[in-house]
Amino acid sequence: MRKIIIAGNWKMYKTQAQSLEFLQVFKSKIDEAEGNREIVLCVPFTTLGLLSKTLHGGIIRLGAQNIHWEDEGAYTGEISGPMLKEIGVNYVIVGHSERRQYFGESDQTVNMRLRAAQKFGLVPILCVGESKQQRDAGQTEELIINQLKLALPGVDQSRLVIAYEPIWAIGTGETCAASEANRVIKLIRSGLSNPEVPIQYGGSVKPDNIDEIMQQSEIDGALVGGASLDPVSFARIVNYLA
Ligand code: PGA
Repeated sequence: MRKIIIAGNWKMYKTQAQSLEFLQVFKSKIDEAEGNREIVLCVPFTTLGLLSKTLHGGIIRLGAQNIHWEDEGAYTGEISGPMLKEIGVNYVIVGHSERRQYFGESDQTVNMRLRAAQKFGLVPILCVGESKQQRDAGQTEELIINQLKLALPGVDQSRLVIAYEPIWAIGTGETCAASEANRVIKLIRSGLSNPEVPIQYGGSVKPDNIDEIMQQSEIDGALVGGASLDPVSFARIVNYLA
C-alpha cells in the first residue's frame, strides 16, 4: 500500500516564535489515531533546529526546503545534507517551481540535489508541473515526462516522493480539478520504475477541496503552501475525510 503524506511548505514564512504558536494549536487539533498519514512540516532553515527538539518523539516529521549537492564548501547561502541530517530532518523539497523560476534551478541541479538528499538519508519531495502557457499549448504531458527523465537518473525510487504541482494553481486559489490532477498523477506513475512512489498533489489545496483531492485513486497526499500557515486550516487538511 502506498504511503499517504501531507506536507506543509511554509516557504519564507514564520519566525521561531510564530512556529511555536502554530504548533501549540496544530498539535491539539490533529487526529493522532490516523496513524497511516504522515504529517510533514517543511519550514525555514532557522526554525529546523528548534522544531526538531520540539517535535522529537511525536508524529510530525520535519522537512527542509532546499539542499546543496556537495557535503560542504564555498557555497554562500546554501545548506548541505550533513547539516540537515544532524538536526533530525527527514524530508527535503527539491525542484519547487519557485526555485526553478527565481533561483535558476535547472533539471540538472534538481537531479544533483535529489541524489545528495538520498546520500544523507533524507527523502526528497521532487516537484514537477507545467505553467499555464505550457498547459494551454497542450505541452503538459511532454513537459512533465521530460522533467522526470532529467531529474531521476541515479535516484533510488524506493526513497522518493513526487509532488505534481501545476504552476498556475500555486498560490492563485485556482485549483486543478481533482480528476485532472488524478489523470496527470497516473501518467507520472506510469513513467516510474517503482509504482509505489507516493505522489502528492499541490496547488491551492484548502480545507474545502482536500476531501475531494484525497478521494482520487492515484493521489497519495498533498503539498500545501498558504493553507499550511494557519494551524486550524492545516489540521483540517491533515484530518481530511477519506
Ligand atoms: P499553495 O502552494 O498551496 O499556496 O498553492 C503550494 C506549493 O507551493 O507547494
